[in-house]
Amino acid sequence: MIDKKDWLAYDTEEMVVADKDVLWHHLKPHRVFDAAEQMIIVEGKGIMVTDIRGREYMDATSGGVWSVLVGYGRDSIAEAVCEQLKKMPYFAGVFGNVPSIKFAQKLLEKLPNHDKVYFSNSGSEANEKAFKIVRQASRISPDRKGKYKIMFRDRDYHGTTIGAMSATGQAQRREGFGPFLEGFVEFPHCACYRCPHGKNYGDCDIECARKVEDIILKEGPGTIGGMIVEPITAGGGILKPVPEYYPILQGICKKYDIWMIMDEVVCGFGRTGKFWGHEHYDVDPDIITMAKGLASSYEALSATVVKQKIYDVFLCDPSDPEDRLNYFRDISTYGGCTSAMIAALESTRIIEEENLLGNTIEVGAYMIEKLEALRKYNCVGDVRGEGLFAGIEFVQDKVTKEPVTESQMAQLMGNVMAQNVIVGRTNSSFHGLNNTMNLAPSLIITKDQVDIIVAAVETAIQKTFG
Ligand SMILES: Cc1ncc(COP(=O)(O)O)c(C=O)c1O
Repeated sequence: MIDKKDWLAYDTEEMVVADKDVLWHHLKPHRVFDAAEQMIIVEGKGIMVTDIRGREYMDATSGGVWSVLVGYGRDSIAEAVCEQLKKMPYFAGVFGNVPSIKFAQKLLEKLPNHDKVYFSNSGSEANEKAFKIVRQASRISPDRKGKYKIMFRDRDYHGTTIGAMSATGQAQRREGFGPFLEGFVEFPHCACYRCPHGKNYGDCDIECARKVEDIILKEGPGTIGGMIVEPITAGGGILKPVPEYYPILQGICKKYDIWMIMDEVVCGFGRTGKFWGHEHYDVDPDIITMAKGLASSYEALSATVVKQKIYDVFLCDPSDPEDRLNYFRDISTYGGCTSAMIAALESTRIIEEENLLGNTIEVGAYMIEKLEALRKYNCVGDVRGEGLFAGIEFVQDKVTKEPVTESQMAQLMGNVMAQNVIVGRTNSSFHGLNNTMNLAPSLIITKDQVDIIVAAVETAIQKTFG
């Protein structure tokens, strides 16, 4: 028997069997475990992880979903969290706590045009808060009466809850979970490689942005209150809009008084070489949501950050019976939990003091240059990205751009993994378009490590496609 107090101890064979018996894994068809053992990760250091069988892997995904920005095994985060837990583990966010104040101050230092921070637990929840803010404002603000609808973009992902799924432009992720919420309006994506308007950049008048106005006019501008976008679409295939895109889109939003919600859940905190993904553009969102890299996933934390004008909508008069309920009536048990704030403060300190943005710019450019060289293979249709965030779109043929099949993609991924390198991919997102491999290593990665990852991808390409 394992001593109950030694929670880090385990018996390998027992864990392998119990994994199948008791766990329901995320985004996994469990029949695969009839023939294969689930990989159980037990340890991490830097950008390396070790599984329960003792195999070591180089992780080019920052923990599977691009979030462990400062790498694994940061004692200083663990120690800071431990100290805080001993002092004060929890009290609900209806009261204040010192770590939340300090981290909100830090966030606003990084977002000088924004004024108030609302904490929650996950990216989905941060986006739900943004939607609730838009909806409640459409009830209580005389200027925004009836503006309850949220626009969202094809191929973007905003989370797993029914509200966030209602705002998600990924047909396969949504399949089977409808009906979705009323009041969410989709507009086309802006990926040049598969331009929804059949145009080429340089000769297109940025229709992907301009034509959104037609949809707004058709829907009724007086009904639309918010528009959510990812600065660079992540799970939808690492799609980076052209420089003109966001200024045009925001111009349209301003014209119709639509609050722009920037989902920085993946791009925020340095992933793309700037602290925020939207800083690559001349754009100033009204609401910014964030999660994942906020605390480098050492703790669960998300935030919804707004401008003063939005906060002011909710400044009701408690003594007025007509007005007293017009504050933001929302709560999240773990939103603002003390130890998550400490993890976020320490993770952010590491990002700043180790100049991880500088590393992301330098090593990211190196990584993308090396990936660009893979275009020599007929199966590599497109290579795109920014900073330490890159996608390779695989096709049957460069000219027709016909995507590779699911089974070719699965083989390719398996062939990378067989070399002890973990990469990601568009996964159960689209019908026929889950053909982008993505690389998003921790921001501490070195050029030598990039060489190992890209070599593994190249070998896998040769093995899979001949
Ligand atoms: C852009 C984006 N927004 C929101 C989410 C949802 O975050 P969470 O899984 O923490 O709810 C994700 C998750 O991958 C994401 O990629």
